[in-house]
Amino acid sequence: MSEIIPYTPTKIARPARYLEGYGSAWYGNESILEEVLDRFHVGRHLAIEFGTEHGHSAIALSNFFDLVICVDPWLQEHADQTTRSMYDVVQENVKPYPNIRLVRSTWQEFCKPFRNGIPIWLKPDLIHIDADHSYDECYKNGEWACEICSFVIFHDTAGFPTVRKAVSDLADKYRRKFYAYEKDWGLGILV
Ligand SMILES: C[S@@+](CC[C@H](N)C(=O)[O-])C[C@H]1O[C@@H](n2cnc3c(N)ncnc32)[C@H](O)[C@@H]1O
Repeated sequence: MSEIIPYTPTKIARPARYLEGYGSAWYGNESILEEVLDRFHVGRHLAIEFGTEHGHSAIALSNFFDLVICVDPWLQEHADQTTRSMYDVVQENVKPYPNIRLVRSTWQEFCKPFRNGIPIWLKPDLIHIDADHSYDECYKNGEWACEICSFVIFHDTAGFPTVRKAVSDLADKYRRKFYAYEKDWGLGILV
């Protein structure tokens, strides 16, 4: 089993773009993102994320990448006592940021053109996984990501033992280092 390396950021700085409210568990991670990207020399062109909900992580990523593609089926209703769906809410939240593209799909559907491990048309610099937190789903989503991207991050590695185990097993399979930031529900970094 691979070693889990504690991650201690040397700089905590909230970027210009972030989303307030909605009580997202992602809140806080936006302030370590720049330091993480700098430390691991991550390119700044394309980020893909699976699991966007209201858009906290997407908006945080949009500070640093030319394009952020966000994949989520947005099937949930929004609990704000109005008729707005979650998809209505996220569209409104990301409207000021033209470098964010919403793709209403599951990661499984989105990834179909990549079957057989052949990345045909996208070369992401970073993939962020924060979708289904069951072991199997997280592991399979992570396998796909590791096949095409050298820098993959996972939210909730501190909050969900299933996610932590999946990331640890992926580190073994792909012979990557697993850095774990333990605050703000945890950010797992596979590099
Ligand atoms: C924990 S929330 C994401 C939180 C978000 N990253 C943030 O910054 O607040 C999980 C999201 O994953 C989405 N999701 C669930 N299953 C999915 C799948 N198979 N593919 C893509 N997204 C999925 C849900 O619709 C939900 O919006």
